[in-house]
Amino acid sequence: MKKSFTSEDAIKSWDNNARSYTNNYSEAGDLHREVFLNPALFSLIGEVEHKCVLDAGCGEGYLSRMLAQRGAIVTAVDYSRSMLEIANERTASHLPINYVHGNCEDLSTLKDASFETIVSNMVMQDLADHERALREMYRLLVDGGSFIFSILHPCFITPESGWEKDEQGEKLHWNVDRYFYEGVYEQRGLGEAGALFYYHRTLSTYLNSIIRAGFTIVKVVEPTPSEEILKKYPTFEEDFRCADFIVFQLRKPTE
Ligand SMILES: C[S@@+](CC[C@H](N)C(=O)[O-])C[C@H]1O[C@@H](n2cnc3c(N)ncnc32)[C@H](O)[C@@H]1O
Repeated sequence: MKKSFTSEDAIKSWDNNARSYTNNYSEAGDLHREVFLNPALFSLIGEVEHKCVLDAGCGEGYLSRMLAQRGAIVTAVDYSRSMLEIANERTASHLPINYVHGNCEDLSTLKDASFETIVSNMVMQDLADHERALREMYRLLVDGGSFIFSILHPCFITPESGWEKDEQGEKLHWNVDRYFYEGVYEQRGLGEAGALFYYHRTLSTYLNSIIRAGFTIVKVVEPTPSEEILKKYPTFEEDFRCADFIVFQLRKPTE
C-alpha cells in the first residue's frame, strides 16, 4: 500500500487509463452505471430542466450529456485532461455543457452558490482529501441546493474484498477484509495502462464528513437492479449478493 499518494498522483493514473477505462462506455456509461447507478442517481436528481448543474469528476462526460439532454445547463469538471479530451470528442456541440479542467478539492475558479444541483458519480473515493471536496460542493451550491454523489460501497468494497471461488471457479462467497483500513489502495483488475488507485474510508468517516461539511442527509440508496433491468441482464441476479455502490442525496440547508 502506498502511504503518501496525492490527488496529482491519482490523476496521472487516470490520464494513462482514460481511454481504456471508457472504451466500453455507451451513452449510458458502462454496464454498472446503466444497471445500478443511473436509475439511483436520476431518482434522486429529479427535474433538471433550466437548472445549473455541476458534474464534479465528469470523466468522459456521459452523465453530463444525459443531464444536458434533460434540459440542464451543465458545468462538467475533471482533473484529468485526457478524460476531458474524450468528453469533448464525444459531446455534440449543441449540448449546453461547459467542460472545465479542475480539482474537485479546490474549485476556486467557480463562484459561490453557482449551482442548484451538484452530481458526483464515483469520484469521492478517488480524492485524497474528500473533506475539502465536500466543503467545496457546499460552497458552490445555492441554499437549499442538492448534492448527489455515489461511491463504491465502503462496507463491501475494501482493499481486500473479492469472490471466494470453488475449484471449478464457481462463485461461493463475497469476502470482505480490512474494512477499517483508511487510505489509498490499488484497484485489482482495473488500470490496463498502469494501476488505478482508490481511497478506502469507513462508512462512519463518510457520514461524519458529510455532517461536518454542514449538509443534511435527505436520502441514501444502495442500488439494486430493477426487474426490467434483470430481464435485460439476467447474470446480475446471480452476482447480486451485497451492495456494490451507495448513493447519497444531501441538501445544503437554507439559512
Ligand atoms: C471512476 S471515474 C468516474 C467518471 C464519471 N463520473 C463516470 O461516472 O463515468 C473518476 C473520475 O474522477 C476524476 N478525478 C479523480 N480525481 C479528481 C479530482 N481531484 N478532481 C476532479 N476529478 C477527479 C478522474 O479523472 C475520473 O474521470
